[in-house]
Amino acid sequence: MRRALVSFLVVVALAVAGVGAGLGVLYARADTSTVGELDFANELRIPPLLEGEADGDSEQVFDLRLQTGTSELLPGTTTETWGVNGPHLGPTLRLVRGDRVRMEVRNELPAPTTVHWHGMHLPAEADGGPHQLIEPGETWSPGWTIDQAASTLWYHPHPHPDSDEQIYRGVAGMILVGDTEASRLPLPRTYGVDDVPVILQDKNFHDDGRLDFSKGLISPTGILGEDILVNGTYAPYFDVGAELTRLRLLNASNARVYEIGLDDGRPFELIATDDGLLEAPVGLERLPLSPGERAEIVVGLDPGERAVLRSHAPDLGTNFWDGRFAGGDDSFDLLELRAAATLEASPPLPARLAPAEPPEVAPGPAARSFELGGQGSIDGLEFDPNRIDAEAPAGATELWEVRNASGTPHNFHVHGVRFRVVRYAGGQAPPHLAGWKDTVYVPPGETVRFLVELGDYADPNVPYMFHCHVLQHQDRGMMGQFVVVEAAPRR
Ligand code: C2O
Ligand code: CU
Ligand code: CU
Repeated sequence: MRRALVSFLVVVALAVAGVGAGLGVLYARADTSTVGELDFANELRIPPLLEGEADGDSEQVFDLRLQTGTSELLPGTTTETWGVNGPHLGPTLRLVRGDRVRMEVRNELPAPTTVHWHGMHLPAEADGGPHQLIEPGETWSPGWTIDQAASTLWYHPHPHPDSDEQIYRGVAGMILVGDTEASRLPLPRTYGVDDVPVILQDKNFHDDGRLDFSKGLISPTGILGEDILVNGTYAPYFDVGAELTRLRLLNASNARVYEIGLDDGRPFELIATDDGLLEAPVGLERLPLSPGERAEIVVGLDPGERAVLRSHAPDLGTNFWDGRFAGGDDSFDLLELRAAATLEASPPLPARLAPAEPPEVAPGPAARSFELGGQGSIDGLEFDPNRIDAEAPAGATELWEVRNASGTPHNFHVHGVRFRVVRYAGGQAPPHLAGWKDTVYVPPGETVRFLVELGDYADPNVPYMFHCHVLQHQDRGMMGQFVVVEAAPRR
């Protein structure tokens, strides 16, 4: 707070002196709102579903071609974009627990890339982090067995230090993992009908339609777009045909934090977080979502009704100055839901969604702690692909602690694991962080503790990543790597 006051006073002094009048102007222009301003003239695009081809014995093969192309992102303009099996974004992959899968990832982009399966439990060599680079013209063919609970995951490039740019150009897609338990639940599950992907990305455009990569003079987090695209659709509407609609929210933005709600304040039910279903639905009116996070919500509509999915100004926990330049004062209309005159009846949501799995280990001292500092380091170190930052025993559950020692918004994502938040900013995990997670927002000055379920794929040579999912921070080096090993770890 004191730093906020000092920087504010400095700004005021400069402005009064006429020296920094520009800063005052920048401050005044730094917030964005599209609330009440969209015409919702465009039908929401639904990414095609890709189920994989059975290859002989028991492998499901997915062909993914990373390519360039042009898209009409803003109506009437043409934008050069990147995508998977198409010019922008990629298909939604449907994977089933127990299946053996093989991905055939062909890089037809003009740059080296990788494809990372965010939230997937898999061997490090199949993870698609910065070490599994695919050169232009090459194909990468990782395989693994799907071994995790029903959840909404996603895939995106991870080449260091170009994740920021490549995801912004449009290389990203959703993954739906299904399992038998979840498929028995009476949940909305017809893809694109009452089970709807909602991929949120913010972009800036030049007048001629080109993507604008500039980052704003004082933005502490990088690109913040003034236009929000949902599944690549500008100002979208979705025709609702059932009483209950399940929205699978994915924040695939570079830096923007959303605060999801409905325009009339009606509550919705949160049923799943990053890595699976909650024990029971939780009624919420607001849901924060930082980059990389997912959430499944169920929204009820009456026949003929309209409701707008909106992002309210998010509480970033920053001082007002940093918050304003990190999007903390921004609000957006995202998607209009239009209910038909008659709606299919939906069964009520089940009271129990998944077995109760309270965190198993009593929180003592943390096994590992990490400090996020500035805009590009962890524990004072920038990412070094040749340095292993931590070694962890396969199959263990460890208490990790992450502190945001800066005034800047950060979050924290760990590859190959899932975790449960046990302590959040001095209190208990709020309801929206009570389920299985792999990415968590860490407010400035605060500490988050979580129990990490380490994977059981040991490999002393190939690391998994942990990093801030604000992509500019990640690319600047706010990333580390750990290996999972069989033996007791060296300390
Ligand atoms: Cu979503 Cu390291 O990634
Ligand atoms: Cu990841
Ligand atoms: Cu960060």
